[in-house]
Amino acid sequence: MMKTDFLGLKLKNPVIAASGPWSGNGANIRDLLKIGAGAVVTESVVSDTLLDVRPCIAYDGLGAQNIRLYNDMQIEGWEREMEIAKSVEGIVIASVSAHTPSELAYLATKMEKFGADAIEISVSNPTREALEVLASHPEAVYDITKEVVSNVKVPVLVKLSQNATNISAVAKAVKQAGGSGVSAINTIRCILNVDIETGEPCLATYGGYSGPPIRPLGLASVATIAQTVEIPVCGIGGIMDYRNALEYLMLGASAVQVGTAIMLEGPRALGQIIEDLEAWVEKKDIRSIEQIRGKALKKMKSFDEMKIEPATSTISSAPCTAECDKCIKCCCYHAISKTEEGIYVDKERCTGCGLCTFVCPAKKLSLDW
Ligand SMILES: Cc1cc2nc3c(=O)[nH]c(=O)nc-3n(C[C@H](O)[C@H](O)[C@H](O)COP(=O)(O)O)c2cc1C
Ligand code: SF4
Ligand code: SF4
Repeated sequence: MMKTDFLGLKLKNPVIAASGPWSGNGANIRDLLKIGAGAVVTESVVSDTLLDVRPCIAYDGLGAQNIRLYNDMQIEGWEREMEIAKSVEGIVIASVSAHTPSELAYLATKMEKFGADAIEISVSNPTREALEVLASHPEAVYDITKEVVSNVKVPVLVKLSQNATNISAVAKAVKQAGGSGVSAINTIRCILNVDIETGEPCLATYGGYSGPPIRPLGLASVATIAQTVEIPVCGIGGIMDYRNALEYLMLGASAVQVGTAIMLEGPRALGQIIEDLEAWVEKKDIRSIEQIRGKALKKMKSFDEMKIEPATSTISSAPCTAECDKCIKCCCYHAISKTEEGIYVDKERCTGCGLCTFVCPAKKLSLDW
């Protein structure tokens, strides 16, 4: 039921472990495959390994910032690591990152020789400004993709950045250059926080933001690409459970990748997402992922297509959460007040903006047409 054809590869399910330290050596990759990953993307392999800075990963309970976006092993070391990774059955996608098309082609050729089933070019890296700029230029992405595609036989995926001004144009360039698919999104340039007592930023330099807070951005990027370019998309960003995976699939993704959830909860988090997704698909009697792919995308409208429909908020008789006045505070139109009978919505003032229906913890408010 969950079998997925992605880039011509036969995945046993559409849930892939994303590129990161959790996939930075053969043993880690093998263990993720054993847990049931549809595929694993290696941490990005680079040609000039620099000394890695420490500390390099921070977390504030919501999202994570990291300033480590490549693997610190020399390319030759990956021959042995790929042997270990491939000691179990499964698909390994090699992530490669470099500044020039020829360097990327060199790394991709090596990783293909070591057994990679596909290549993912990481053109977007918020800690390397030159790469981040490159990710916004369709011509540069075209050149890179073309060079790699003409040097390897395996499918080539290009990982895009949400920071690109026109992500559709970049995805189109990948397609024109012969790329088999795109993945979106990589982490987003960030500073997690500043200690106001010491004036110290959380980490010493800009990093990549990941985890739940970037999910809405990832969803929008995937939907935009799926609406405008005919190319398989792998959805990434803030997937913490099977519902999040389904959101990406319903917005047009053919497969998804999970990173921060594995980093925070361990490889078992990936296994849980796969198990829960399987159970959901079975419960709904869904025979193939294709049945749900793009379901939400079809319902997306442009602003021009949206009808102006008069709506107002209506209160149900369910009891309020104790001491709550969230709906009163959030209504910018002062339509909600507390009376002796309870919460009252003034229909004359209510504009139907909808916010109170999301804010109410007791789900007492709904919109009526
Ligand atoms: C610590 C860390 C290291 C990462 N390293 C890489 C990398 O080497 N190459 C790459 O393309 N993406 C890298 N990423 C980005 C992830 O693959 C993924 O695109 C991003 O974290 C968003 O997904 P998530 O919210 O599920 O983590 C890294 C992310 C984290 C948190
Ligand atoms: S729908 Fe908007 S305007 Fe109407 S009561 Fe709720 S918050 Fe106020
Ligand atoms: S937000 Fe909901 S629970 Fe809270 S006061 Fe308003 S209606 Fe009651």
